[in-house]
Amino acid sequence: MASALVLMASWAAVLVAAAALDVSPVPFHAGYTPLFGDDNLVLSADGRSVRLKLDKRTGSGFVSKSAYHHGFFSASIQLPDDYTAGVVVAFYLSNGDVFPQNHDEVDFELLGNRRGHGWRVQTNIYGNGSTSRGREERYLLPFDPTSRPHSYAVSWTPTAIVFYVDGAPVREAVRVPGIGGDFPSKPMSVYATIWDGSSWATDGGRFRVDYAHAPFAADFSHLALRGCVAAADDHQLTDDAECQVAVMTDEPAVMTPAKRDAMRRFRRRYMIYTVCHDRVRYNGTVFPECDVVDGAERDRFHEWGESKHIVPHGRKDKQQATAAVDGRPSTWPAGALRAD
Ligand SMILES: *[C@@H]1O[C@H](CO)[C@@H](O)[C@H](O)[C@H]1NC(C)=O
Ligand SMILES: *[C@@H]1O[C@H](CO)[C@@H](O)[C@H](O)[C@H]1NC(C)=O
Repeated sequence: MASALVLMASWAAVLVAAAALDVSPVPFHAGYTPLFGDDNLVLSADGRSVRLKLDKRTGSGFVSKSAYHHGFFSASIQLPDDYTAGVVVAFYLSNGDVFPQNHDEVDFELLGNRRGHGWRVQTNIYGNGSTSRGREERYLLPFDPTSRPHSYAVSWTPTAIVFYVDGAPVREAVRVPGIGGDFPSKPMSVYATIWDGSSWATDGGRFRVDYAHAPFAADFSHLALRGCVAAADDHQLTDDAECQVAVMTDEPAVMTPAKRDAMRRFRRRYMIYTVCHDRVRYNGTVFPECDVVDGAERDRFHEWGESKHIVPHGRKDKQQATAAVDGRPSTWPAGALRAD
């Protein structure tokens, strides 16, 4: 396996044009199917976007028709407005339905908040059931995610996972040897859900979902799925070297120095928590892949992993959050950071 990966990586390095992956967004029913929430999932007239609602009765969600063994997965999401404490909108990869004991997962979780306090986004990675080793990071969003759709995407290859927001890389987790089974390696399906995360989502559960503001509606559009489809329902690995090379040479999988610079700038300005600098939670254990993260970051974080400089809205520092807007990476669209 390891030597196959090395071989694949060297192919990837030399191949300029690999088998083309379909880059266009798919109509909802071409790639996805409703998962739960019956009439709280509403398809648009053209069938290309879908609204997920949460009300007192239920949340809602959808899932990809296929499982994928690596690929690039993207959705544009416009989040519900106004008071959204406790509401969680998630776009993620998982195989928890097939491997309940040792599942893999790659998450974007958008965490609702009180009026005027904006949304935060959390990323996370689990591999082979590593649920006792959460790898969370949280970031402020340098735009108002409720005013129009913004894209959230994951590139997952045999060698790395890269998270993107509006085309800008925000996190790269490289499959270093020490990460072992904690790196997601089995085929996963793609999910989108809205649900009640009252117990933890907003300030650790201090602010619960208030159904006086329901229904909460998140709009999903530009659904892009371009990966290697796993065989049938059994989530077995496929013998698909050509597709793996295509995934690894796909633009989102290739981290150029310019993209790493943009990622560093984003993380410096917007990352409010990272497990990589949290030396309390796991008793000083630092995950092996953290070594590849910009080492100079560490000084900017408390030993419990929170930023010393960027304070979530409403807590303390409006000025610093506002200042961050001016320094947004050039790839970010103009848009106001939600002010207190
Ligand atoms: C994944 O978990 C299973 C069951 O716990 C274990 O047998 C296997 O060795 C693990 N695989 C890796 C790559 O760690
Ligand atoms: C945490 O680390 C300390 C010092 O290395 C050690 O004495 C203690 O047993 C560890 N606790 C746990 C729960 O691992």
